[in-house]
Amino acid sequence: MLETGILFRYNHDAQRNNIWKAREFENEVKKLLGAKYAHAVSSGSTAVACAMASAGIGAGDEVIVPPFTFIASVEAVLFAGALPVFAEIDETLCLSAKGIKAAITPKTKAVLLVHMCGGMAQMDEILRVCKEHNLTLIEDAGQAFAASYKGTSVGLMGKTGCYSFDFFKIATCGEGGVMVTNDEQCYKNADVYSDHGHSHVGNNRGMEPHPLLGFNYRISELSAAIGLAQTRKVPFILEKNREHKKILTDILSKVPGVSFSTLPDPAGDSATFLNMFLPDTEAAKRTVDEFNKAGVAGFNYWFLNMYHFINQWDHIKNLDAAAKLPIHLLGAPQDYKNLHLPKSQEVVGRLISFGIRCTWTNEEVKALGNKISGCVEKALAVHA
Ligand SMILES: Cc1ncc(COP(=O)(O)O)c(C=O)c1O
Repeated sequence: MLETGILFRYNHDAQRNNIWKAREFENEVKKLLGAKYAHAVSSGSTAVACAMASAGIGAGDEVIVPPFTFIASVEAVLFAGALPVFAEIDETLCLSAKGIKAAITPKTKAVLLVHMCGGMAQMDEILRVCKEHNLTLIEDAGQAFAASYKGTSVGLMGKTGCYSFDFFKIATCGEGGVMVTNDEQCYKNADVYSDHGHSHVGNNRGMEPHPLLGFNYRISELSAAIGLAQTRKVPFILEKNREHKKILTDILSKVPGVSFSTLPDPAGDSATFLNMFLPDTEAAKRTVDEFNKAGVAGFNYWFLNMYHFINQWDHIKNLDAAAKLPIHLLGAPQDYKNLHLPKSQEVVGRLISFGIRCTWTNEEVKALGNKISGCVEKALAVHA
């Protein structure tokens, strides 16, 4: 590819020496996940946008979203012209069926389910609610590439799904994302939508028909080449992550007061995070203080520090945007400044997550586990 100089995923058939890295990347993802269709794009964020648009979700549609996710999921809904409706999560760290049910209105069109922190949602119940209420299920598995539920990859349980390949994910390509689906029409829509409406039929780009409006969400061949190489390593990374997570879990499960996020299918865990619950928010805050004192790094206390929880999203609550969005004209479906989501507050308040690295040695993992447990014991002893 560097020799041909063709870093653009489309066109230039004569010069590219039959090198198509984006296509290879997509084929590798399809093979790994068992997807019928995969479409690589420029980021996980644009992959969510493609997943929404290609499934037909747009202006005025109410979309149920979680209050705990990376902000991109909610942004994708807003910029699609749709209206986010926040619902409760549970100990899976994902939307619960109960939360979804309580948020349904006559205008609800879709659920944007986010599989958080490497795990997965309670899919049987959620699929049942979506079916009962005729809701389109879109899965943002940005943080859960290669996780599965009862043998099916997360991202492939609804109409469309997507993954991020940014710096923090199990596989990275610098910047990139992939949308997946088993629905041929959704795939065709995404293929066209992500490239200014080009049909990609024939080999004369300038003369292609444009069946739909689209925009530029294209991935470059450079990023795709890295994504391809990384995706090939995922089975190895999964094995290591799971080994490391087990060592940490074995150490920490002996500490009174510590529990872990619920994994509806433990065998399908991507094990990219160890998600640890403390008894309550105050105990979690004291634990964070102990980590800081002891120099323990690599943890996320989402409740206060990160850009992943609604408490940090003042711009969404105020609908501050550079320019008018459909939601400004249509009106927000909820009072975003006064949302009542006590379960989500409680769950995220007592959650601390550690990113797991496949490059650690087992000795390093054990040392980390012992450090974490020492800090937790100190934090919990104060009020024992
Ligand atoms: C759940 C989720 N969705 C979407 C994204 C956006 O992905 P990207 O950073 O590749 O745009 C992220 C990134 O952290 C994410 O965690």
